[in-house]
Amino acid sequence: MVPIIIPNTLKVKNLFTPLLSFGFTLISATFAQAQVVTIPVETAHNALVLQSNVAKQLNAIYYGKKLSNAPEYSAIPDTYKQAEDYTGLYNAAYTAAGSRNLLEPAIAVTHADGNNSLDLRYVSHEVTKQGDDVSLLRIELKDPVYATNVTLYYKVYYKEDIIEQWSEIRNTEKGTITLQKFASANLNLKANSYWLRQYHGDWAREMQPEETQLTHGIKTLDTKLGTRINLFMPSVFMVSFDKPAGEDEGKVLYGGLEWSGNFKTDFEVDPQNNLRIISGINNYASPYELKSGESLTTPAFWYTMSDMGKGEASRNVQNWARDYKILDGKGQRLTLLNNWEATYFDFNETRLSGLLKDTKSLGVDLFLLDDGWFANKYPRNSDHTGLGDWEENRTKLPHGIASLDKEAQADGVKFGIWIEPEMVSPKSALYSKHPDWVIKQPQREEYYYRNQLVLDLTNTQVQDFVFHTIDSLFIKAPGLAYIKWDCNAVIYNAYSVHLKNKQSQFYVDYVNGLYKVLKRIRAKYPTVPMMLCSGGGGRVDYGALQYFTEYWPSDNTDPLERIFIQWEYSYFYPAIASSNHVTDWGKQPLKYRIDVAMMGKLGFDIVIDKLSAADRKFSQDAVKIYDGVKQIIWHGDQYRLADPRTGSVASVMYVDASKSSGVMFNYLVNSRYGEGSPTPFKLKGLDAVKRYKLQEINLYPGSKSGIDSERVYSGDFLMKIGFNPAVNTSRSSVIVQINEVK
Ligand code: DGJ
Repeated sequence: MVPIIIPNTLKVKNLFTPLLSFGFTLISATFAQAQVVTIPVETAHNALVLQSNVAKQLNAIYYGKKLSNAPEYSAIPDTYKQAEDYTGLYNAAYTAAGSRNLLEPAIAVTHADGNNSLDLRYVSHEVTKQGDDVSLLRIELKDPVYATNVTLYYKVYYKEDIIEQWSEIRNTEKGTITLQKFASANLNLKANSYWLRQYHGDWAREMQPEETQLTHGIKTLDTKLGTRINLFMPSVFMVSFDKPAGEDEGKVLYGGLEWSGNFKTDFEVDPQNNLRIISGINNYASPYELKSGESLTTPAFWYTMSDMGKGEASRNVQNWARDYKILDGKGQRLTLLNNWEATYFDFNETRLSGLLKDTKSLGVDLFLLDDGWFANKYPRNSDHTGLGDWEENRTKLPHGIASLDKEAQADGVKFGIWIEPEMVSPKSALYSKHPDWVIKQPQREEYYYRNQLVLDLTNTQVQDFVFHTIDSLFIKAPGLAYIKWDCNAVIYNAYSVHLKNKQSQFYVDYVNGLYKVLKRIRAKYPTVPMMLCSGGGGRVDYGALQYFTEYWPSDNTDPLERIFIQWEYSYFYPAIASSNHVTDWGKQPLKYRIDVAMMGKLGFDIVIDKLSAADRKFSQDAVKIYDGVKQIIWHGDQYRLADPRTGSVASVMYVDASKSSGVMFNYLVNSRYGEGSPTPFKLKGLDAVKRYKLQEINLYPGSKSGIDSERVYSGDFLMKIGFNPAVNTSRSSVIVQINEVK
């Protein structure tokens, strides 16, 4: 160990140990009897630095670019000449309520004796390496007066610059304690100004961005909907520092909660002009009791920071998601034909046989049977009936899904099915048989969202029912290759018969019940692709996506709208997870619709036999073209070239890891006279010294491209000068394939 002097007001002599484990350094300091411990949590480019001070209070002293000399992190606090904060707690790593704290807490506890105070002091920490790229830091905190212990977890994904943070709260008192607040994470950031990009929405209007400067006080993003929680707001956000970050410049932090239930994220600009971000499960109506010896583990809050703008931050998240979060993120996906918009509830076996043939002739992998295939006492012929009665409707499917499964196999395609297993229709046999399984207030009028109610997943019997519902589909149709899991209703009148006098645990236990079912399904069916749908994009988060291969961004499939919706999702989720279907929404030509759907996982939801011969041929060819570029889209790096919110053309490209192949999508988003792409778009992510040819693909039969596919460009030229896809009102959608010339 090498003693070095660190300039700080304590004038402590610091001792540091060399790197303990990938991503973490321990620096300890002695000062009289007290000890200062500095814990830098390092990723490839950044460091989050925690420090236990002489009083053993754990503070977050820095989050930003990492230093080459780790012991110097201790000097950072001295560079700030901010006013006295009266508490010494403004930058607490996990702010406890009820003692000296004056700001928003991360944790608030009522002890067995009714006392509301909590004070958390550093006890110890430990790092475990979980792989080449992944380490886990645990920091133990303890209240010196009450027997409440908290462990803070920091899981570091070194290469991706991502940290996941969560807490575990343990009651070691003799009696029961109540957690009034139990956040996952508490960040502290310093800049001159902070710019929040947040999202709001509604059905068919997901991911609408708003960007504003944060002012002093608290701005809260939250949801209290219980299920379909992102209907009005997802938990993902960005914060830019000093000015709104650009695509390739500026400092920006992305974050989101891995939780499919109520969340709350507070952004507090404190009296010293620092930004405190506190995120976790929403404590709304949810004081959570812990008996002696019990603990609660909160969901992870993920975050990443980039000094190189939004593009790099989003590539960090997309890589991390594919490597670690989304089920089979590095695998393959199935293209499909879905019947929802083609038939709605009105189909029979003859119609479905035709659609299976259409699936084959279109050239996609799978036929997805949507809503309407089930229930007999109250047949599912509209959205008013049948949810919960998951047996095939005998009129529509007299031979059941087993026969559809066989027919699909005979036709050389795969078969998938829609289900909404968390829900129940008031008109259903399930509701009559198990009214106590339904979430509703016993003495109040029922209130419906899409004419339905939610089942009580806090109840293990309901969990079993949902698991067996899914299991029975696979038992009946062993070739079943895909599930679309829908969730259309929010929770009104939150009340669980099962929870009795523990109603305040309802919202948390619901989500844990859902995750238990999904875990069981995945234990038995580890790889079958499942789409996470919620009346559109009502439930898209990394808590759920560990069980799903893809999500449904929105029922709004108007391609013009989708360009904007998919653009915003892409900041937080990789293209491989975005299910994009070609439908009849919107006024754009078929080519435009298909081109937009290609920027993710392609599917169709149109009546194939109503297409003209030319459109049909074009669609078949488009599927083949997509098959040729889909690996680049799914597994490559994404670069945004032209923002549809600031110009008339949207341009996005994907490049494979070797920088040899790419694909560039360009769309006109403003059809006023003369709009188009008068100037080139600078390509990104290529190799400056490689040479490339660019060729327009997916042309509509009979149309010719003006793009010279024989011309050779250097990567240097394409990235400094750019390429003009010549978008205009008669070429409103242009896809360009980029291939290295060897
Ligand atoms: C909502 C989904 O978002 C749609 O794609 C469709 O599956 C319907 N539910 C079916 O009820």
